[in-house]
Amino acid sequence: MKLRTQFDGLTLENPLMPASGPLVGDLEKLSFMRDEAGTGAVVTKTIAPREPKIPKPCIYTDTRRQFVMNSELWSEHPMERWVETFLPAYRKKNDRPLIISVGYSKADMETLIPRLEPFADAFEVSTHYVGTDLSVIADTVRTIRSLTNKPFYMKISPHIPDAENYAKAIKEAGANGVVAINSLGPTININPARRRIEYAPEDGFVWTTGPVIKNLALATVYKIKQAEPDLTVIGVGGVASAEDVVEFLLAGASGVQMLSGALLKGKQLYAKIIRDLPKVLEKFGFDSVEDVIGTELDNPTSYEDELPTLIEEKCIECMLCVKTCPYFAIEFKDRITFAPDKCFSCGLCVSVCPTDAIEMDKLR
Ligand SMILES: Cc1cc2nc3c(=O)[nH]c(=O)nc-3n(C[C@H](O)[C@H](O)[C@H](O)COP(=O)(O)O)c2cc1C
Repeated sequence: MKLRTQFDGLTLENPLMPASGPLVGDLEKLSFMRDEAGTGAVVTKTIAPREPKIPKPCIYTDTRRQFVMNSELWSEHPMERWVETFLPAYRKKNDRPLIISVGYSKADMETLIPRLEPFADAFEVSTHYVGTDLSVIADTVRTIRSLTNKPFYMKISPHIPDAENYAKAIKEAGANGVVAINSLGPTININPARRRIEYAPEDGFVWTTGPVIKNLALATVYKIKQAEPDLTVIGVGGVASAEDVVEFLLAGASGVQMLSGALLKGKQLYAKIIRDLPKVLEKFGFDSVEDVIGTELDNPTSYEDELPTLIEEKCIECMLCVKTCPYFAIEFKDRITFAPDKCFSCGLCVSVCPTDAIEMDKLR
């Protein structure tokens, strides 16, 4: 099964990359991604010309509810350390693309890009702390384009309200694509037992990531690709399985990044997802990653009512459908029954059933 994906002159032997963050914060971690995780490309922690002031502790995970909250900023290592130590050592083995993440302003780019250029196959540019004015972001893009011929991708944050216009502005200014999305926020982490806010700087706010943001990330990828089909989109946010990777590729991504999945389940998740991808592609009827990327999604919207049906031999009488039906339309009378006068055809029972015992033709 071919897992290769290609965009803007970069070739990735598989579509998974680490997302910028602590797992790519120095030479040891970059080498782990290349030599043990086996990701198709490696991305660095965001490098910026200023020292970050990071509260401790700063990374919280809720494994039950599948999210991460953090108050990290950019790399704790100065640019000089990256240029003099980490990057030259890492690049001695030069077998897959290295995307260097940089932040944040136009002036920062003038400092960073010329120094980092010799080590980068591409750049990813965080706009997390630069506000929402698209003319300022476009100006930064023009500056980067004047400093490098290499591909670069602008990373969009969920607090930037208009993904389509962001994409249009950065494309017109000369960027190759978008990385969607950065962390969701501001959010807050309240510990009720101790009556306090935790893991946060003085303002009390932290950033949320992981599976809880996946649907927002997918929608942002989809919106951008629909609005600007020529832009490369790299999807990120909530990936934790090979199935998630396929969803991002179908939404319009050419490559996919992950961080929180590994903070919740362990760093071996990168290698596992790459191992799982061939059988997941086969399960969904795809021949290759490129086959997924070229697929157009159907959206068979319908406004016609349809009563669900029960496949009796699959029903284990767990009553979950009865308990969750928001229209009080499911009852247990010897068997699960649907009241035609009450059923709203909402479809919740089909997705809630743990044994796939409820069907609707529309959802087949
Ligand atoms: C602890 C932590 C640190 C992060 N640091 C950075 C960073 O330095 N630069 C950046 O662009 N994004 C950073 N991010 C955001 C991630 O790159 C990614 O966009 C986000 O976490 C969503 O992906 P995920 O759900 O797979 O984690 C960080 C996220 C976390 C959880």
